[in-house]
Amino acid sequence: MADLTPWDLSRIIELAQHLKRRYYSGERVLNVLRGYSVALLFEKPSTRTRVSMELAAIQLGMHPIVLTWSETQLGRGEPIKDTARVLSRYVDLIAARVYRHESLLEFARYSLVPVVNMLSDKEHPLQAIADMLTILEVKGGFKGLKLVFVGDGRNNVAHSLILAATMLGMNMVVATPPQLAPEKSVLDKAYEFADATGARIEVIDDPQKAVEDADVIYTDVWVSMGEEEIAEKKRQLLKDYTVTTELLAKAKHDVVFMHCLPAHRGEEVTDEVIEGPHSIVWLQAENRLHAQKAVLLWLLQPRTP
Ligand code: CP
Ligand code: NVA
Repeated sequence: MADLTPWDLSRIIELAQHLKRRYYSGERVLNVLRGYSVALLFEKPSTRTRVSMELAAIQLGMHPIVLTWSETQLGRGEPIKDTARVLSRYVDLIAARVYRHESLLEFARYSLVPVVNMLSDKEHPLQAIADMLTILEVKGGFKGLKLVFVGDGRNNVAHSLILAATMLGMNMVVATPPQLAPEKSVLDKAYEFADATGARIEVIDDPQKAVEDADVIYTDVWVSMGEEEIAEKKRQLLKDYTVTTELLAKAKHDVVFMHCLPAHRGEEVTDEVIEGPHSIVWLQAENRLHAQKAVLLWLLQPRTP
């Protein structure tokens, strides 16, 4: 997330709004990136990112090539650095979903073209960009809003959200057990953004207190992909962090509930909340498509109006 400046992020969100309007006015395929191609490489499962990235590319006139890790020679041990040098001689952009963030950095080090993070163990920036578009649509702005993330404060979604929110001037509260506090490198960067935008950041362990006066409450799964071996430990640590109707009632009356999905009803959120009147999770999922079109366009044709 922090590879973008706050200005870049605002520009991408503006582009996403523009592209979404054009999509709804009937211009489904724009052809602005005709002749360009993108490799979409998945080391772990995906529904939203997989489908919305492929469609985002097609709707801009691009040719997407979806690859699962194991069907490429990566699955047989070809080094990432060799794969990056080869793929980037064919395509204009590489997007990858990986277990280890280090794998993405290795791709970026050796690729001749931009490399986009479609989720790693450290960050999920495409999700955060779509979430910012969603907050803008629903709340009309960012400055002064209180965004509370409840749950696993050390996970990919929380990290990118903290960075995006502070870049745009939102006050960020993370309610998480001390053992799952966000990574220091992420918080240090977020404090830098917050200094410039006037945002406040708080990490506390009491979800009840955290959500007081919240404009947005956000959560994510307790057990992320790749954490299956420590699933029980995480469930134990997070058992008091379920987003319930009672918790929502402590926030502002017009609070919205967000979740990147997939959700585990009965763990991080109740069925009643996710299906309830405060939930905007489907709009969030929809906005992945438009936000990602903006990212592709911004990376490949930065001067497109
Ligand atoms: N939110 C999200 O990235 O969903 P997928 O894992 O289905 O892509
Ligand atoms: N934190 C979750 C997000 C899924 C989109 C995971 O990494 O599994």
